[in-house]
Amino acid sequence: MADSKKEATEVIDPAVAAFIEEDAKRKAELEEAKAKDFEKPYDTEALLEVRHLRKCFPLQKSLLGKVQRELVAVDDVSFKLNAGETLGIVGESGCGKTTLGRAILKLHEPTGGRIIFNGEDITDFNVKQMRKNRTEMQIIFQDPYSSLPPRSTVGDILSEPVKVHKIVPDSEVKDYVMDLMEKCGLRDYYYERYPHEFSGGQRQRICIARALSVKPKLVICDEPVSALDVSIQAQNINLLKDLQKSMNLAYVFISHDLSVVKFISDKIGVMYLGSMVEFGNKKDIFSNPIHPYTKALFSAIPNPNPDVKMNRIVLNGDIPSPANPPKGCRFHTRCPNATEKCKYVTPEYREYEPGHFAACHLCEEEFSKK
Ligand SMILES: Nc1ncnc2c1ncn2[C@@H]1O[C@H](COP(=O)(O)OP(=O)(O)O)[C@@H](O)[C@H]1O
Ligand code: SF4
Ligand SMILES: [Mg+2]
Repeated sequence: MADSKKEATEVIDPAVAAFIEEDAKRKAELEEAKAKDFEKPYDTEALLEVRHLRKCFPLQKSLLGKVQRELVAVDDVSFKLNAGETLGIVGESGCGKTTLGRAILKLHEPTGGRIIFNGEDITDFNVKQMRKNRTEMQIIFQDPYSSLPPRSTVGDILSEPVKVHKIVPDSEVKDYVMDLMEKCGLRDYYYERYPHEFSGGQRQRICIARALSVKPKLVICDEPVSALDVSIQAQNINLLKDLQKSMNLAYVFISHDLSVVKFISDKIGVMYLGSMVEFGNKKDIFSNPIHPYTKALFSAIPNPNPDVKMNRIVLNGDIPSPANPPKGCRFHTRCPNATEKCKYVTPEYREYEPGHFAACHLCEEEFSKK
């Protein structure tokens, strides 16, 4: 009774009704714009283009297998990445970073949207069609302990993909692997050793060497240094940077560590509850963040200069469940700038300056005044 009364009052509140109507209109316009986007020609300059990517996980199915409830882990994410560039993906735990990385590689089958890699739409590729791309798109995981086979020597671990994908003739495999080991800072006697004989940092270098052994163009680095000591982190990040330069690699670099992302990235995408809330060049994102979530996230980065006063923006409350995200702007339950409109109307993800995108009503208002 109380609920139906509340609903009735909500519906008759003219301001709320206007917001709900505006939201429905915006959503319809967005669907139209999306349909047009899918028809646009691919960007021939980009190595990777992601258009409106969506990945849902079923939470509940009926007896007949129909999905009744789902969790939207990645919702409507779009970006472009050129060869040799690094896109840093940041956001709190559970915001969909890993799912995005895995969906790009089709380790998770995307629910919607398109993935264009090297000028080819790979979204609907089957396992056989993906075989060629499997060498060109690689992934490095956070945990260097569980991702290496314990009973194989480093030499075997690195030689196997080279042989399977026929990267060089069989007679040249050992020389090729030794050369790769040197590039990755691994001593030649490691060749005969087993993964358990190494520290976390060295194991991660073995993982890096294995990923690069097949000459990829794109590497998804999912929290690749988060499990390592700070001093080792720096060495491995520098190694990734050097290898990127010499091999013209593109990285999607996923991390919750903003200092690491700042160091390695050219472009940055900020995710919140499955959505990309801000995207742009590193300089724009760090020196001129426009989304309140990015501002709050970045306000927590310690400044090495003791004379600079930190204006930390503390976010209230916990991250809502992605299985039941808030309506309107998903960030409204924690946003220090939220208004009534934010509770009902989904903000549009727009380009505010060349290459600088955000989804926020406040940005819309501020930029409309300019
Ligand atoms: N295989 C899965 N099945 C169901 N839910 C999943 C699965 N993988 C991830 N999720 C959910 O998707 C959301 C995003 O997860 P994830 O991509 O791992 O986030 P992040 O890497 O940013 O921490 C989380 O709520 C997580 O629980
Ligand atoms: S749309 Fe509103 S709630 Fe969302 S980030 Fe902008 S000001 Fe905050
Ligand atoms: Mg993750």
